[in-house]
Amino acid sequence: MAGVSFKDVAKRYGEVSVIEGLNLEIRDHEFMVLVGPSGCGKSTALRMIAGLEEISGGAVSIGERVVNDLPPKERDVAMVFQNYALYPHMSIRENLEFGLKIRKTPKPEMNRLVNDAAEILGISHLLERKPKQLSGGQRQRVALGRAIVRKPAVFLFDEPLSNLDAKLRVQMRSEIKKLQQRLGVTSVYVTHDQIEAMTMGHRIAVMKDGKLQQLGTPLEVYDRPANLFVAQFIGSPPMSFLTATLEADGESLSGDGFKLPVPRSLRPVTAGKGGLQLQVGLRPDHVLSPESPSRGETARIEVKVELVEPLGNEVIVHSRLGEHSLVYRLPPQHTPESGALMPVVVELDSLHLFDARTEQRLSA
Ligand SMILES: Nc1ncnc2c1ncn2[C@@H]1O[C@H](COP(=O)(O)OP(=O)(O)OP(=O)(O)O)[C@@H](O)[C@H]1O
Ligand SMILES: [Mg+2]
Repeated sequence: MAGVSFKDVAKRYGEVSVIEGLNLEIRDHEFMVLVGPSGCGKSTALRMIAGLEEISGGAVSIGERVVNDLPPKERDVAMVFQNYALYPHMSIRENLEFGLKIRKTPKPEMNRLVNDAAEILGISHLLERKPKQLSGGQRQRVALGRAIVRKPAVFLFDEPLSNLDAKLRVQMRSEIKKLQQRLGVTSVYVTHDQIEAMTMGHRIAVMKDGKLQQLGTPLEVYDRPANLFVAQFIGSPPMSFLTATLEADGESLSGDGFKLPVPRSLRPVTAGKGGLQLQVGLRPDHVLSPESPSRGETARIEVKVELVEPLGNEVIVHSRLGEHSLVYRLPPQHTPESGALMPVVVELDSLHLFDARTEQRLSA
């Protein structure tokens, strides 16, 4: 097995730059998720590891070896795609054997590898069927099986679940995670779905416009988004933002329809920055009904409820505060009426402060 590294990697198509200055170390045994909106260069990065795209600058290494000029079949990687076309006329067993036959694997070895993979994936009883006799989830497991039987140093996944329905996606997402834990194979998983990224990765790399925005564990990225883009992208329901000015003394934030004190925990961050224009980020988790217990320093504000979405275990409330919209969740017993004015409590220590101009997180 092996880690994967990108050093100053660039990808250009003629004049068009798709990836720039990408530096990323994926550790041996790690499950790394590349996440970002459509077109940000995730698949391109993955395909450069696989050898399916030429590298325009910098170096991609697998283990100790720079692989820039190595043909795909010599890279010891296995890729699972969104369109995992199985050969329709072959049985599942033959589908699983296909790559091994090409590599001239001896028959007994091949049987062992296929039976082991089928066992791991729970598809042993399906080996003699044809693909069309399988459900979508079972077919996806066969596609994973084709990658597993090769015992590669690195697994590459490109949105492998996006053709499945919502329920099956959730199930397969935990299956892939368990599989990776069990096999310990270094894995790079591409998705545009931030929930998939949060739930599956040891670490996640958030990308935008071909540039790495932040690298960290799911909780690091959730708790301390490095910039406005990451703050908006990660989290569901998403963070709300208030446009604010930091008062001259650095001790309060004011904007249309609100004034909030800066809590002691954030004073080192705001000190000496009076007058700065900010975007204040507020996760739904830190806006509470006054009846709920709260942590740390708090402030009370009044919002106008616009829309209530009941989910059974909680309600999502869309509200208005001056010109801003504010989304939060409440326990179902506190469900407000649409149109009502509602007092809410804000946990101030959990505010996220971003410089409105640079869009970077404010730091001390
Ligand atoms: N052959 C090409 N010539 C020029 N530009 C290309 C070419 N292939 C891809 N691109 C551009 O490279 C960018 C990155 O593409 P890529 O497929 O890596 O995005 P992605 O993050 O995987 O998006 P998605 O989530 O939609 O799959 C896109 O803007 C795309 O238009
Ligand atoms: Mg893609």
